[in-house]
Amino acid sequence: MRNKQWDYGGHYRNLDLSGEISLPHDSVVKVCDWLEELPDFMLQADTLFIDPPWNKGNVNTFYTKAGKAHISLDFLEFSRRLFEKIDHINPDFLFIEMGKQYLGWYLEQASARYRYVTFYNSTYYRRPANKCYVIHAANQFKLKRYPHLEDQDEAAIIAWLCANHPYKCIGDLCMGQGLVGKHAFLAGRRFVGTELNHKRLAVLISDILQAEESGGNGTVNQ
Ligand SMILES: C[S@@+](CC[C@H](N)C(=O)[O-])C[C@H]1O[C@@H](n2cnc3c(N)ncnc32)[C@H](O)[C@@H]1O
Repeated sequence: MRNKQWDYGGHYRNLDLSGEISLPHDSVVKVCDWLEELPDFMLQADTLFIDPPWNKGNVNTFYTKAGKAHISLDFLEFSRRLFEKIDHINPDFLFIEMGKQYLGWYLEQASARYRYVTFYNSTYYRRPANKCYVIHAANQFKLKRYPHLEDQDEAAIIAWLCANHPYKCIGDLCMGQGLVGKHAFLAGRRFVGTELNHKRLAVLISDILQAEESGGNGTVNQ
C-alpha cells in the first residue's frame, strides 16, 4: 500500500530516466542528489526557484520515498550545503519556498548574498490553511518585488514567474513532480533541474512527452 502511494502514477516504468534527460527548448533534467553531484548544466540557470524540504523530518520523508537511507546531516547543515550549490550556480535571481520554522534563517542567507530580499505570503495545494513563504532575492532594483504575487498559491507564483520573469534559463534543484519545469515548458522557455526521486521526476517528463505527442503547446496535466 505504502509503495503504491509513493508510486506517483507509475510513469517511471515507461521511461528511461538514466543520465541527463533532454527536453524541449534545450531543457535538461537529471535524477540525482545534489548533496553528491551538481550537474554542470545547472550552472546555466540565471534564475533559481527551489522548493526544498522545510525541516529534518521532511528531508527524511523525501529520502524514504526515494528508497534511500536517511542522511545524517541536521537541517541547517543540509541547508548550508544547498546554499553552497546555489553559490556555485550564482543566479541573478533566487526564489526559495520555505515554511515558517526556517524562514528567518533562509532570509538571512539570502540577505548575505543579494541586495534586495523580500518574501511573499503563500499557500500550497491551494488550501488557505497550508501556509508557506516564497523568498525573492535580487540585485536589480526594478525587479526587487512583484506585488501581485502576495497571497497567491505557490502554483500560481511559479506559473507567473515561469511565464513572465526575465530569465534565459530557470533552474530547480528539487524538481519533485515538476511545477517549475511544467510552467517553463508551457511558456516555451528553458529550464534545468535535478530531483532525487526518479518516480517523482517521471511525472513531469511523462506530461511533457504526452503534450509533445499530442501536438505541443498548452496541455500538461494539472
Ligand atoms: C517540496 S518537494 C518539491 C516539490 C516541487 N516543487 C514540485 O513541483 O513537485 C522537495 C523535493 O526535493 C527533493 N529533494 C530533496 N533533497 C534532494 C537532494 N539532495 N537532491 C535532489 N532532490 C532533492 C525531494 O525528493 C522532493 O521531491
